[in-house]
Amino acid sequence: MSDGAGEVVAVGEGVTRVKVGDRVAGTFFQNWISGKIDRSVMSSDLGGSIDGVLAEYVVLNQDGVVLIPEHLSYAEGATLPCAAVTAWHALVTKGNLQAGETVLVLGTGGVSVFATQFAKLHGAKVIATSSSDRKLEQMRELGADMTINYKTTPDWEKQVYELSDRVGVDHVVEVGGAGTLAKSLQAVRYGGRVHLIGVLSGFGGEISPMPILFKSVTVNGIYVGSKEMFEAMNQAIAKAQLKPVIDRIFPLAEATQAYEYLKSGSHLGKVVIQVSQ
Ligand SMILES: NC(=O)c1ccc[n+]([C@@H]2O[C@H](COP(=O)([O-])OP(=O)(O)OC[C@H]3O[C@@H](n4cnc5c(N)ncnc54)[C@H](OP(=O)(O)O)[C@@H]3O)[C@@H](O)[C@H]2O)c1
Repeated sequence: MSDGAGEVVAVGEGVTRVKVGDRVAGTFFQNWISGKIDRSVMSSDLGGSIDGVLAEYVVLNQDGVVLIPEHLSYAEGATLPCAAVTAWHALVTKGNLQAGETVLVLGTGGVSVFATQFAKLHGAKVIATSSSDRKLEQMRELGADMTINYKTTPDWEKQVYELSDRVGVDHVVEVGGAGTLAKSLQAVRYGGRVHLIGVLSGFGGEISPMPILFKSVTVNGIYVGSKEMFEAMNQAIAKAQLKPVIDRIFPLAEATQAYEYLKSGSHLGKVVIQVSQ
């Protein structure tokens, strides 16, 4: 459990950056404050290399927390550290997303839903895919301009090409991995960007380097992001009064069911565990 938000109830000696009563979220990488990622960052992931946040009290370094936007509840703030920062890093920090560009998002999980919200915030167009028509309807309500069911349209990359005026998309938020990367490279335009984020359909697979080379595609490996990115994102979220999309909130006693629900893929957006009221 990497993502959590809560109130600062005590601070140690010499702490100047946060005070008791502040509403904060932990950063995914406790040691990545700003600048580029490096090896030292890798051993500081909450819920991975170090203890996570499925707890009533956690102890974090003052550099490992950010203030959450005032208009968000703790449950909403808790959705931000991983999925939202990853989508922001991909599209905004590295992707330099511009109004009028087209973004392809795959599936309707946490990263893709935040990517859709950030794309709309920047005046971009969104093509969203899902295995469910019901979820595609929800994505249209969230602002997706065009939608494709990837189950009933297995050649969805061709449909993306048609929907992008036979040019291809400017950005792909690539969360699928082995099962989708080759198609994403077909769906992106010449000179476009594929943000490599996830492996929902598997790790392995062979990828031809040719579309990357011929189309001069920029392939960006994205691993969450820094505290600086998190804070920039929070400013934009506050300015736009943007609300994260929470599918369901489980009480702490049902944490196991929350994980099972997430694993089932029934959700759209984020699933939250409420540790205390
Ligand atoms: N690199 C990073 O820093 C980083 C950060 C966060 C997450 N990730 C990774 O990114 C991926 C997405 O994370 P998430 O939190 O958004 O996941 P999630 O909420 O669990 O996403 C689940 C959804 O993904 C969609 N999906 C599953 N298989 C798919 C496929 N073959 N093609 C298209 N969509 C598919 C389904 O959407 P539909 O039901 O609509 O079909 C499913 O409901 C995961 O692999 C995760 O580990 C990486």
